[in-house]
Order: sequence, then C-alpha cells, then structure tokens
Amino acid sequence: MSGNREHFGGRAAVIMAMAGSAIGLGNIWRFPYMTGEYGGAAFILIYIACSLVLSLPIFLSEAVIGRRTHANAIGAMKQLAPRSGWMALGYLSVITPIVIASYYCIVGGWSIEYFFKSFTLDFGEFSPSGWKALAFDTLFLALSCGIVALGVKGGIEKFSKMSIPVLFLLIVIILVYSVNMPGARAGIDYLVKPDLSKVTGKTFAFALGQSFYSLSLGMGIIITYSSYVRKEENLVVSGVGTALSDLLFAILAGFAIMPAVFSAGIKPSAGPGLIFETLPVIFAGMGANAPWVSSVVSALFFLTVTVAAMTSSVSVIEVGVAYLVEEKNIARKKACLIVFLVTWLLGLVSVFSIKLFGMVDAFTSNFLLTLGAIMVVLFVGWKMKRDDVRDEITNGGTKHAGLFPVIYFLIRYVAPIAVLVIFISNLIL
Ligand code: PHE
Repeated sequence: MSGNREHFGGRAAVIMAMAGSAIGLGNIWRFPYMTGEYGGAAFILIYIACSLVLSLPIFLSEAVIGRRTHANAIGAMKQLAPRSGWMALGYLSVITPIVIASYYCIVGGWSIEYFFKSFTLDFGEFSPSGWKALAFDTLFLALSCGIVALGVKGGIEKFSKMSIPVLFLLIVIILVYSVNMPGARAGIDYLVKPDLSKVTGKTFAFALGQSFYSLSLGMGIIITYSSYVRKEENLVVSGVGTALSDLLFAILAGFAIMPAVFSAGIKPSAGPGLIFETLPVIFAGMGANAPWVSSVVSALFFLTVTVAAMTSSVSVIEVGVAYLVEEKNIARKKACLIVFLVTWLLGLVSVFSIKLFGMVDAFTSNFLLTLGAIMVVLFVGWKMKRDDVRDEITNGGTKHAGLFPVIYFLIRYVAPIAVLVIFISNLIL
C-alpha cells in the first residue's frame, strides 16, 4: 500500500497544508476575544509558551505516528500496536474528525451565506438553524469533499498552497481598513495592553486549550497529514512553521476585527456571535456615504472566513477518507461520497438546533480532543521505543539531535500532566 501512496510535494507544501488545517475559525472567533479578555499581550506570551512547550510536543507525537507508518490513523495503530487497547486511539482519531466535520461545515455554510448577503448588506437576523442553514451546510461540505476527492496532491495540497497566501493577503487588507476606522485605538489597546491582573490559573488552561484546538491536535489530522510527509522532511521544522503561521494569522485576525468592533462602540464577544451578529452590524453601518465600501469589506471578510474554514474542513474529511481508502480498499472518490453522506447525516443533529450544535461543539473540543491528545503523548512517550521516536524526530540523528532529550522529556512527562489538568478542568469548570 505504501508503494503507491501520495506524498506532499516538499517543505512548503507540508507547511501550507498543515497551516491550512490549523488556520480556521479558532483563529478568527476565539483567539482575538480570548486575548482581550485574558490579559492582552500577557495572554499572547502565555499562548506562545504553551504552544512551544506543550502543543508542539503533542504535534510532534502525532507526526511521529503518521510519518513512521505512512498510514491512516487506524492503519498506523495496527502497525504500531496491533490488537492492543491502543487501537482505541486509532478509532478515536477517525471518529472525532467526523463529528467535528458535522458541525464545522455548518459554520462554513453560514460563512458562504454571509458572503452572498454582503452584496445587499441585508443581513437580517442571524438564523443559525433550519433548512437554509442545511442548504449552505450541504454546499460547503460538498465543496470540501470535492477538493479531497481530487487527491492529496491534486486537491488538498493545491488548494492549501493557493489559499494560504490569499488568506494572509485578505486579512491584511481588512486589518488596514479596520485600524484606520475612527476610535480604532481602543480595539488595539484591548489586544496589546498587558494586564497581569487578568492572568489566573484559568488563563493557562484556556491558552493551552486554544492552542491545541487551533493546531488541530488530538483528532488524527496531524497523524494523517504526516503520513504524506516524506522521510527526508524535517518534522520539527514543519511543526514550528505550522505553529508560527497559525499564531501570526490569529494575531492579524485580532487586529482586523477588534479595532472595528470598538470603533462601532460594541462590546466584544466570542464564538458565532462575534462574526455573524456583531460584525455584520458594523459592516452595514460603516459605509454610510459609500455603501459599496461596506459591501466590499464585508464580502472580503466572509470570503476569508469561508476559505479559512475550508482549508480546515478538508483536513478533517481526509482522515476518514484515508481510512476508507487504505483499510477498506475503497476508491478515493467513493470514499469521499461515503464520508460526505455520514457527515451530512450527523450534521442533521446540529443544523436544526443551535443548542445541540453548542453541545456537540463543547463535547468534541473539550472532551474528545483532549482525550485524543492524552492518548497520543502517552503512546509515543511510553509505549513506542525511544529510538524509533528519536529516529523520526531527528531524521536518524541528523537534525536537532541535541534538542531531542528536551522534546522527549516534554512528551513523556510534561505534556501528559498538562493535558490531564486541562481535561479535568474542562470536566468540572
Ligand atoms: N484548527 C482549526 C481552527 O482553528 C480547528 C479545527 C478543528 C480544524 C477541527 C479542523 C478540525 O479553526
């Protein structure tokens, strides 16, 4: 099977695809708000520290599993720990993404809807559930599956390579507009003023949880994407490159959104409310003398959200598709159709009730992802042979060999404890 497996084209392709998965709604609707609420510049520093010390080792653990085996998440565990309890990690890694895709695509659908609404600026009331939401959800999911059907290189890699530069360009255009709005200063202050009084134990838990979600960890995505990474690529560089792009985009999104929010005198919020309720009001109100300006800025913004969400949704869908293709010998296009149908059916749970939508979101991001991440670090840190892990992370001892003991220590001791703390605090908070 591994003989005719596809591979990403090179270092840039690997980072673009992984950054595509990482950059998404988490950067746009959660990061800016969390930064403002939990200490501004102080939060950003804590976030960077959490990403380096904890998320990166988890990322590398998943990358080790994927690249070592060159197989889908379940196939990988079959190779590394056949018929053991660890197979649960493989199954979890394929189930979680499908659950996530089922509601993530609904948000993608809202973004497409709002892109079209931008032209008339007639946003009306935000109606997240119902038949219209289902229609746009179906469209978004179908487009995502269509890209995955084109293959790892011809679909995912090509789409990510095209989209990531465009996303950065778009968010910078919106940022320039936003920071020049009257009263924008307050929004900038909200993001950068270090406020240590807002830093508590909770800040660390939130920073870590966010960095986790943002890097798409704990759900088999990095296992699957890394299985398409050639042996000569450097996993540490891929991880750092992905984390930096993700962080940069989150910060740019903050400066694109918050100055506009404050300029309009609106209180910032997080989640769907921020981009589908607050921002449309601002867009609609800002171009009083030239409505086309509002339309253009709004359309560019929702285009950004749609594309950012789609580079993430393809990564979630690929996990299940890779499994069906390799373990069940199903042709890629047919596998995409199956994943489309399963995800679509599951989405029916969330698309008619915003309450269920919220529950599925909380259950996956607070529970399934953390569970997946704990199992990954325990597996790589305690079950796999140290030499095998070292071999993958250092390319046979040729790259970052001096750094390996530090990385390994983080994987073995620090990451499991930290993630366990998050896991428990998610259950009780
Ligand atoms: N990393 C994505 C984001 O920041 C989140 C994501 C979750 C991506 C689940 C894929 C799957 O939006």
